[in-house]
Amino acid sequence: MSKQRILSGVQPTGNLHLGNYLGAIRNWVEAQSQYENFFCVVDLHAITVPHNPATLAQDTYTIAALYLACGIDLQHATIFVQSHISAHSELTWLLNCITPLNWLEDMIQFKEKAVRQGENVNVGLLDYPVLMAADILLYDADKVPVGEDQKQHLELTRDIAVRINHQFGKEENPVLKLPEPMIRKEGARVMSLSDGTKKMSKSDPSELSRINLLDPPDTIAKKIKRSKTDPIRGLTFDDPERPECHNLLTLYMLLSGKTKQEVANECENMGWGQFKPLLTETTIEALKPIQEKYKSVMEDRAYLESVLRSGREKAEEIANQTLHRVKTALGYSMPV
Ligand code: AMP
Ligand code: TRP
Repeated sequence: MSKQRILSGVQPTGNLHLGNYLGAIRNWVEAQSQYENFFCVVDLHAITVPHNPATLAQDTYTIAALYLACGIDLQHATIFVQSHISAHSELTWLLNCITPLNWLEDMIQFKEKAVRQGENVNVGLLDYPVLMAADILLYDADKVPVGEDQKQHLELTRDIAVRINHQFGKEENPVLKLPEPMIRKEGARVMSLSDGTKKMSKSDPSELSRINLLDPPDTIAKKIKRSKTDPIRGLTFDDPERPECHNLLTLYMLLSGKTKQEVANECENMGWGQFKPLLTETTIEALKPIQEKYKSVMEDRAYLESVLRSGREKAEEIANQTLHRVKTALGYSMPV
């Protein structure tokens, strides 16, 4: 039997942070040998908020290089750039025409981002989840590994696929495959260092709120030192009154590879003055191999370009087949 297929992606807006790594990419790496994997850099999503054309291409390469640096293995995975494959945009249009407007207006992420953007919200921001549905459905993905914040978008993706199948498919021969979310409990929601009730995010204006994968050791030390804590001695998981404590212990657990019980025992009598240097050292050590690998990939631009070129070839073939299937189901015909 052939392997199940995975698809996921990250936007090339800003640097990747520990939330992206622990919530998404690390899980891709761990599961990669059991699946056939497609990982894209979703650069069309990146322009749904104001963007800088002078850095878009470089940011896109950075994310692709970070995929490799985090351990994505080309034996198991195809890495490609969304904008290199026009089928993503084309399927988005077809899906747009069957997606009810109010489904999109109900998306939490849209509402949050729209508030931040003020009056001039562009149509692309509203349409963001349909483009994401196209990314997934084009590859007949079985599983989509993401952080908790993307759950609603995956439900929408399924709803869109069900609607297409219902309107244009036959029960025994559906047009699109329904994907399953793959959301791990641990790390699915890494919180801000400045506020343990808010998720760590690329769009937080404060750099101190997040640790980026490419932060040098002294920056990591400074950010952890300044991170919000509480005056209570003895550190514990799962206390709703102590969200920062839970978050920092979780980071320590995930980055050190220790179990929850081991960390709970080790830290139950610690104060912050003892814990913070420990977390700092653990974080620096965990990120060091990623940073070294990143540097060597970025120094060899020709290699990175060849990875993206062959990724595109492989992904495009599958994407075009699916697009053709959907167009045929919708009634389009084109002489060959
Ligand atoms: P984005 O940065 O929005 O492109 O997100 C890329 C991936 O990282 C998605 O799978 C998100 O669900 C995941 N992610 C982003 N922020 C966090 C966070 N704070 N905790 C866990 N996962 C996250
Ligand atoms: N919307 C996702 C995020 O911000 C990124 C994304 C775009 C994605 N297309 C995707 C994730 C397809 C998984 C599958 O995190």
